[in-house]
Amino acid sequence: MKKIKKIAMLTSGGDAPGMNANIRAVVRAGLYNHLEVYGVKNGYEGLIDGDMERMDHSSVSNIIQRGGTMLKTARSKRFMEYDYRKQAYAQLQERGIDALVVCGGNGSYTGAKIFNEEFGIKVVGTPGTIDNDLYGTDFTIGYDTALNTVVEAVDKIRDTASSHNRMFFVEVMGRDAGFIALNSGIASGAEAIFIPEIKGDYQDFVKRFEKNKRDNKLFSIIIVAEGDESGGAFKVAEMFKEKYTDLETRVSVLGHIQRGGNPSCRDRVLASKLGAGAVEALLKGETNIAIGEINGKIAYTPFEKAIKHQHNSISADLLDLVKTLAI
Ligand code: F6P
Repeated sequence: MKKIKKIAMLTSGGDAPGMNANIRAVVRAGLYNHLEVYGVKNGYEGLIDGDMERMDHSSVSNIIQRGGTMLKTARSKRFMEYDYRKQAYAQLQERGIDALVVCGGNGSYTGAKIFNEEFGIKVVGTPGTIDNDLYGTDFTIGYDTALNTVVEAVDKIRDTASSHNRMFFVEVMGRDAGFIALNSGIASGAEAIFIPEIKGDYQDFVKRFEKNKRDNKLFSIIIVAEGDESGGAFKVAEMFKEKYTDLETRVSVLGHIQRGGNPSCRDRVLASKLGAGAVEALLKGETNIAIGEINGKIAYTPFEKAIKHQHNSISADLLDLVKTLAI
């Protein structure tokens, strides 16, 4: 087995709090193991254009606490084309780079997998997405911080909802997954949550709401994942208003505040462990795998398995809990 000497790191797809802590860990663990480490700018875009720099320990000083990604990120359309991937590979070859760490979500992992299969370059991934929708890790980097951001925002919305006796439909991120909606919903005492994984959740809510109305509940918080079949919080609020003309409703779309902010302690620790884990995996000769943490232990999962449609399933117990506690 050829020993690796030079590695590169990039962040790709939607940014997530903790990506900086992950970059720091890859760079520092790489240097600790006497590797040369390069930071690639703008995700796969920078790989294609050769926009990368050698990093030393001070390149990643004072970033562990920062949101966003110091390497910047992109959703690269060009990397979907073979010719650009070939160009990206040539950029790595030119610099003698043997291996790549990609921090991102399912789209980024898909790119990494194809890149490895086409050119044989060693690639490992770290799960950087607020959506928590990757298989092979209990939690993704950024998810905990995003949850805390949502809960803090909903607590504030609850104050005004209760003062005015209003129904608030709060939209959270989650194009394909309801993890943010489900867990933030429980933590913020939501009346209901609507998530892409569950069909008919609006009808179910209306049934329960009829009862709560009778019990004289005056205000409610309903969390809607952006990818829900209803089409989002505005759509749900419209349906609701048509039926309950006497109730005041408001909509709040939390949007990109969920992607920003200083990473939580949990995210910093996770990002640090997985960054060091990625370097260790490469040193052991691993490739084409996602690094995750399962039950507190570093886990390797082939990209094939980790990507979309095979993510952790939504807990039926938590779904029931929302209903139990909303009586
Ligand atoms: O990173 C995933 C995600 O947070 C999704 O939940 C959301 O739909 C998407 O990013 C929005 O990303 P952007 O505005 O960057 O396209």
